[in-house]
Amino acid sequence: MKTPYTNSKLHKKIEAKREYLNQRIADDVERYGGEVIDSEEMRSAFEQTHHRWSTVGEHTIRVTVSSVMICYVLKKLHIKVNVPAVVVASLCHDLGMLGRYEKFSSGKECSREHPKESVAVARELVSDLPEKTEDIIERHMWPMGQAKAPNSIEGIVVSVADKYNAVKDLVKGSEVNHTGVKNYVHEKGKKIQQHIHEKQLR
Ligand SMILES: [Fe+2]
Ligand SMILES: [Fe+2]
Repeated sequence: MKTPYTNSKLHKKIEAKREYLNQRIADDVERYGGEVIDSEEMRSAFEQTHHRWSTVGEHTIRVTVSSVMICYVLKKLHIKVNVPAVVVASLCHDLGMLGRYEKFSSGKECSREHPKESVAVARELVSDLPEKTEDIIERHMWPMGQAKAPNSIEGIVVSVADKYNAVKDLVKGSEVNHTGVKNYVHEKGKKIQQHIHEKQLR
């Protein structure tokens, strides 16, 4: 009888690789973004709706996971990329949206102003926030509105990961099965999110 694919060596190899990758991403996020993950702001982020079907927190985690995955690919191609800056910027990029209905008078204002607010939150949460990280956060909305273009490879990574995940959120992201994108990101995001909650509930 033919061995089912799920018992095959190839499947096991892929699963093991995926598990390793999940762990590597979770470790990098924890190592470089621990201060942000443990914050009250990140906890509230899971309570505010974002992109209709998501929350700021879920979107944040998805963007962070995607950004880190892009970094790994770039590194494989021998392109230098600053992973700590990418992790912190991804985690903070939309935290300035928290309380948006009290803070901003319109969606347009929110879209234009939240990157600056996110930089302010990041400064509060992270000691000695590098200028590069501030730039990534401040420019992440490009090419929308009047936002300035990213000025680093890390800025491009976060900006692209943000757009990719915004689209996924809007098409109900992880719940859609026919997008042609296998949703590994969702699983990793869930793991990291669970980790955040466990830590914060302790
Ligand atoms: Fe944003
Ligand atoms: Fe975003």
